[in-house]
Amino acid sequence: MKIRFNQKLDKNSIIIHVIDKKYFGKQKNPLWGESFEGKYGEISTITRDNDDLKIFFGLGDCTEPTEFEQIGWKISDYVKGNKIKNITLICNGSEEPDGDIILSIINGIELSNYIFDKYFSEEKKNQIKFELENINVIVKNKSAVEQEYNDFLLIKENIFFCRDIVNEPANIITPESYAKICKNLEKTGLEIEIFEEKDLEKLGANAILAVGQGSNIKPKMVVLKWNGGRKLENPVVLVGKGLTFDSGGLSLKPENAMYDMKCDMAGSAVVVSTIKLLAERKANVNAVGIIGLAENMPSGNAIRPGDVIKSMSGKTIEILNTDAEGRVVLADLLHYATTKFKPEVLIDLATLTGAICVALGEYKAGIFANNDKIVEELTKSSKKTGEEVWRMPLGEIGCKYDKMMNSDVADVKNISGSRNAGSITAAQFLQRFINGHKKWAHMDIAGTAFTTTKAFFVDKYATGYGVRLLNDFIKENYENK
Ligand code: BES
Ligand code: ZN
Ligand code: ZN
Repeated sequence: MKIRFNQKLDKNSIIIHVIDKKYFGKQKNPLWGESFEGKYGEISTITRDNDDLKIFFGLGDCTEPTEFEQIGWKISDYVKGNKIKNITLICNGSEEPDGDIILSIINGIELSNYIFDKYFSEEKKNQIKFELENINVIVKNKSAVEQEYNDFLLIKENIFFCRDIVNEPANIITPESYAKICKNLEKTGLEIEIFEEKDLEKLGANAILAVGQGSNIKPKMVVLKWNGGRKLENPVVLVGKGLTFDSGGLSLKPENAMYDMKCDMAGSAVVVSTIKLLAERKANVNAVGIIGLAENMPSGNAIRPGDVIKSMSGKTIEILNTDAEGRVVLADLLHYATTKFKPEVLIDLATLTGAICVALGEYKAGIFANNDKIVEELTKSSKKTGEEVWRMPLGEIGCKYDKMMNSDVADVKNISGSRNAGSITAAQFLQRFINGHKKWAHMDIAGTAFTTTKAFFVDKYATGYGVRLLNDFIKENYENK
């Protein structure tokens, strides 16, 4: 798909006008169709005499960039459905002096122009191919719009990078191959350190090792560093759950809960993609990504319910359900993050609990934080980027939720044993491993990382949720300090 910014119409394309209500009110145009009112999302298609087809999209009264992006998604769906190849996009909105609306619409078109088709035959690829080849955009201030568009392209590429690794099946993305993909990112200017099984043993990362011990493919930890800030500046640290497959282990998942579990590394994919993006746009910040890669499988070597393991922190964990494995991996990652680095801010991302999907569905991620400021910062970025968050309760150590995780035989157990408050007790478990760090947020992205219906500009599967949000969060609050 090619986009050109222009000042004139392209005769060979279908013209799409986006029109807001104020403009509509000023000059009602019979060309727009009898019943067209310019309502948000309204579509009117007109052909007159020998004239070309014209399409009108209403913007209503909306003012939010994220709402304009949704119009872009609608345009993209419309164009796909009608197999249209070339369009000219004109915004007749009354508040369009600087191209902001049109830019947001293009962002929406770009984000929805994604398909994971690498395993289709050529024939099948061609059948379902997105047809849109050229977008001709009419703008007044061409160079300013073009610059902003190019900045967004880099973000988009990394969202797609994230979607690609999340969509890859678990026979392709294994801890082994995934670590290689990370290593390959050295070319972007990142420092990459890979911790193999023996290195994890030396570190005492028995929690990560325990989760991966049932698989023939050994677990790994990868640390990605972007040193774009001042030398002594404390880094932003991002931690990600990277279960390349989660069968549940001996606490085996039922069939219908297992086939999405190639996506259980989405937290790590967001971390890798965000750090890669920081490097590619040469962000003036120090940032570290830490991901734990493992495959949770049942076997003669697998951890069993009832096993007790000693985590890197020295705290012992009673494993009562081998399917609550993400938090166990994160226990070591968070301990490593808070003892090895002095995080300016610490965020972990994980497809951690089914309970967060029950609570919030696929449209908002749950955030659990021990700091109001971080919630404010994340919420602000989420409003800007449309990657929404919702704050969930997190109590201090010793609170009622926290006590639900006390074990009879170890320092902590990995499930509460109750169906209640499943995503909260998981967060309370994590909090025991952050060494009292004062600015921490846990994001449970089990609902938002991949979709079964339609969310975050995709019809199905990986959404890339989190990359845009974290990029904006870092840019607005931690860069150029
Ligand atoms: N990876 C799952 C959580 C998950 C569920 C992610 C649905 C995406 C969609 C996690 O490891 C898990 O299995 N959690 C259990 C915890 C339970 C055993 C306490 C769950 O949510 O059922
Ligand atoms: Zn699990
Ligand atoms: Zn899992």
